[in-house]
Amino acid sequence: MWVWEEPSTIVFFALPPMDNIKRVLVVCLGNICRSPMGEGVLRNAAKGLNMDFDSAGTQGYHTGDAPDPRAVQCMKDHGIDIAHLAARKFSARDFESFDLILTMDGQNFRDVLIMAPNEASRKKVKPFLEPLSMSGANEVPDPYYGNQRDFDRVFELCSQAAALWCEQWKGQ
Ligand code: 4NP
Repeated sequence: MWVWEEPSTIVFFALPPMDNIKRVLVVCLGNICRSPMGEGVLRNAAKGLNMDFDSAGTQGYHTGDAPDPRAVQCMKDHGIDIAHLAARKFSARDFESFDLILTMDGQNFRDVLIMAPNEASRKKVKPFLEPLSMSGANEVPDPYYGNQRDFDRVFELCSQAAALWCEQWKGQ
C-alpha cells in the first residue's frame, strides 16, 4: 500500500536505468507510418543524449519509399521533419548494429524476435510502448488504412513513451 502513496518509489520501479544504449532501431510492418514517426519522435526527445536512431519494417513492400504523406504532415505539425527518410526492411544484421529494438505492435515483436540468433539479441527487443504498459497501452495501432486522426494518435502514444524512454537513457 505504501508504494502507491510514494510516487517517487513508483517511478523508481517503473523506470529502471538502462546501461549503454546508444543505437536504437524502431520497427513496424511497412516502415512508412509508425516506425519513421517513432524514429523522429525519439530523435527529437533524445536531443543532447548523443544517441542514434533508425527505423525499419518487417516487410519490404515499401523499400526505398518516403514516409506516408499523412505521417510526414502529422510530424511537420509538431515541428519534426521526417520527409527525407527512406523505408528499408529489417535484417538479422540489425541485431549486431543496434543496442535496443523497439517494436510497434505484437506482430512486429514476434516477427523480429523469431529472427534473433541468440538470447543476447532477444533481450534487445522490446515494445515501443513498454514504458506505458502500466497504463494499459501496449500497441501502437496501424494507421495505414485510417485517417489523419489515427496518425495523431500514433504521435501521441509515441511521444508519451519517448519521454519515458529518455528518462531511462539520461545519465547512462
Ligand atoms: P506501418 O504501416 O507498418 O506503420 O508502416 C503500414 C504501411 C504499409 C502497409 C501496412 C502497414 N502495407 O500493407 O502496405
